[in-house]
Amino acid sequence: MLNSSDILIESFNQAGQGQVFQFFDELDAATQAKLVAQAETIDLAEVKELVEEHVKGSQHHTLNLDGLEPAPYEALAANGGDSAQWSAAKDAGSVALQAGRVAAFTVAGGQGTRLGYDGPKGTYPVTPVTGKTLFQVFAEKIARSGERYGVTIPWFILTSEINNDATVAAFEAADFFGLSRESVHFIVQGLVPAVDYEGKILLAEKGKIAMTPDGHGGSLRALVRSGAVDAMKAQGIDIVSYFQVDNPIVQCIDPAFIGFHVLGQSELSSKMVPKAYALEKVGHFCVQNGSALVVEYSDMPDEMQEETKAGGGIRFNGGSVAIHIFDRDFIARAGGSGEGSKLPFHRADKKIPHVNATGETIQPDAPNGVKFEMFVFDALPLAKNPVIIEAARADDFSPVKNAEGVDSPQSSKEDQLRMFARWLKAAGEVSRQMILAFQ
Ligand code: UD1
Repeated sequence: MLNSSDILIESFNQAGQGQVFQFFDELDAATQAKLVAQAETIDLAEVKELVEEHVKGSQHHTLNLDGLEPAPYEALAANGGDSAQWSAAKDAGSVALQAGRVAAFTVAGGQGTRLGYDGPKGTYPVTPVTGKTLFQVFAEKIARSGERYGVTIPWFILTSEINNDATVAAFEAADFFGLSRESVHFIVQGLVPAVDYEGKILLAEKGKIAMTPDGHGGSLRALVRSGAVDAMKAQGIDIVSYFQVDNPIVQCIDPAFIGFHVLGQSELSSKMVPKAYALEKVGHFCVQNGSALVVEYSDMPDEMQEETKAGGGIRFNGGSVAIHIFDRDFIARAGGSGEGSKLPFHRADKKIPHVNATGETIQPDAPNGVKFEMFVFDALPLAKNPVIIEAARADDFSPVKNAEGVDSPQSSKEDQLRMFARWLKAAGEVSRQMILAFQ
């Protein structure tokens, strides 16, 4: 009689992926068990679809740019927006916060290869004077917001198998940065196998499949599969404030943003900043056939990114800074398995170290295969009543992505110092006015 691993191996053979178990008989029992456990997480039907669409299909999907327009957005009051609306939004957001409807959500499952830092990116020391880590900065902001609104704001953190244990250990070592342990939830995102150009799943070792995180778009299904969405529902949380681990100056909890989301009955709201220059490497907020969407810089021709408006200024000016608010039920829909709601996968050609058919380990010096990732902003066209508001770059966006130059630890430290100086000046101005009022 066949046991369960025989059945699994047979299903891989049937799917044309039998090479995954090519060295199975050479492995010790523990490694065999690990390989079986890893293989069990693979959705062979999904892999087949991905291979057919992205590897064997037309290969390079070019986005249809017909009828693409810049998306409308709510301008900052300082830039011509309606200040009464901004203050109504801030009030509505404060009410939602006081009612305990809001959770924070950080995506931190990426590999952080560009920074060249060996460890979860959230443990990177980022502040200019005391060297606080990204996680500490967010923890302190979330705690202060909780105090301000008289609630405990739960914090969900997306990790991946690559960094989950190290992330949890860092929180434990720091005693959860003073947060209550029960309010912090680690969600491990899914992995997808990497394939070669024939669509065959690659082995990282003889007993280990080459797998990578399924992109920040995978955060939605991870929230559903882990039970986090149900837990939110049980706690009366329906507003999820989403930000990336790489951006220390993000306003983790922004009442005005939350308010625009609530008042707009939006399923997915986003912050935009005007691009710093035409070819800045950010996504662009656009509309097409009545739906909002983000078009990555890599999918938009340079001429289009550089286009100017009749009255001057860049036409596609709405840069996506990856700061969003999700409605909980929308997460359940976009992260669920229902038809028509799934986020698409994108293909990335990579150099993938692997074991070849003769058992040699190969470190390729040119791309030899494909990894698949989902992008969270692909949820935008699925959302009802999307809201986009303008944010001031100086108050919300200075990411740490590269070791040097643009978006580096150095540039972010300089932006933080400028922000602290503005805060001090503003606080000084308040004290000066108070003194004048009492004189
Ligand atoms: C991203 C956006 C871009 C946006 C910019 C703003 C994409 C494709 N593009 O670029 O539109 O303008 O940020 O900073 O995302 N992550 C996971 N799991 C994964 C992959 C990533 O949690 O599987 C997390 C990372 O930990 C990080 C974030 O997602 O917090 C961003 O990932 P990254 O690949 O660095 O995106 P960018 O190319 O910088």
